[in-house]
Amino acid sequence: METLSSIEALRRRVAQWRRRGERIALVPTMGNLHQGHLSLVGAAQQAAERVVVSIFVNPMQFGQNEDFSTYPRTIEEDTGKLSDFSVDLVFVPELGDIYPHPMAQAARVVVPGLSDILCGASRPGHFTGVATVVSILFHLVQPDTAVFGEKDYQQLLIIRRLAADLHMPVTVLGAPTVREPDGLAMSSRNRYLTPAERAAAPALYDSLRRARDMINDGDRDYGAVEARARQWLEAAGFAVDYVTVRRAADLREPEGADTELVILAAGVLGRARLIDNLALSLKERG
Ligand code: PAJ
Repeated sequence: METLSSIEALRRRVAQWRRRGERIALVPTMGNLHQGHLSLVGAAQQAAERVVVSIFVNPMQFGQNEDFSTYPRTIEEDTGKLSDFSVDLVFVPELGDIYPHPMAQAARVVVPGLSDILCGASRPGHFTGVATVVSILFHLVQPDTAVFGEKDYQQLLIIRRLAADLHMPVTVLGAPTVREPDGLAMSSRNRYLTPAERAAAPALYDSLRRARDMINDGDRDYGAVEARARQWLEAAGFAVDYVTVRRAADLREPEGADTELVILAAGVLGRARLIDNLALSLKERG
């Protein structure tokens, strides 16, 4: 496994692979890798001969009062985990190489609409930062396939949209959410939880499952389902940002005929902002 931080060296390696006709899969990350990230690496290996993992804590996607400076940076452990996983290349770029101009003047990739709702409403500019850095990584690595987690469902849809609208020759794959045994979705931010908060955190996934059960049992008053789920989360100590039933394809409010739905929730528990989601198909139930 090779670890490169220089853009020029990365481009040389990628060009060499492409000359040989080898396909490339990219897994973008911010590091502090856990089983969720590693499952994306597994999916990337299925899709291509060469796998690149990028590790870059992207300042453009953090708000002013967010955790950019304290975000866990564990590069040694991360590269150790990846080398056990036969990744070909770990790309660990420098801040000034990714953003050669002052951040306020840097070119940006904006996906209007999808970026402004749900997490985008409480984190203005966040998804523009994500779309911009992912576009930069796509240009540098030129992957045939890129793998993202369904845990960040809104992010996955935004990346699909930017790749389609900008005609990027990349297939965007979504991989299922990897969870702790008690159901909590794995996340680098779980480490911000105190033991008591950690014990309460599985309420996030529990609430989504109970909401899904209500809908599967025939409840079509989504507003009422959302209100119940909000109560469960508040009882567990969450400051709820949103709990909402949306169309899986575009995160709009569902209409009568829609069958492919997703329930999404976000809330703050102590110092951690946690998100999760659960898909449901009304078709399967008949
Ligand atoms: P990060 O939070 O490090 O996540 C990297 C990738 O791992 C994302 O695609 C995310 O959805 C996926 N992931 C995280 N937890 C997961 C879990 N429990 N199960 C499955 N997949 C999981 O998301 C980002 O970084 C950044 O926004 C990035 C896309 C790298 C752009 O900076």
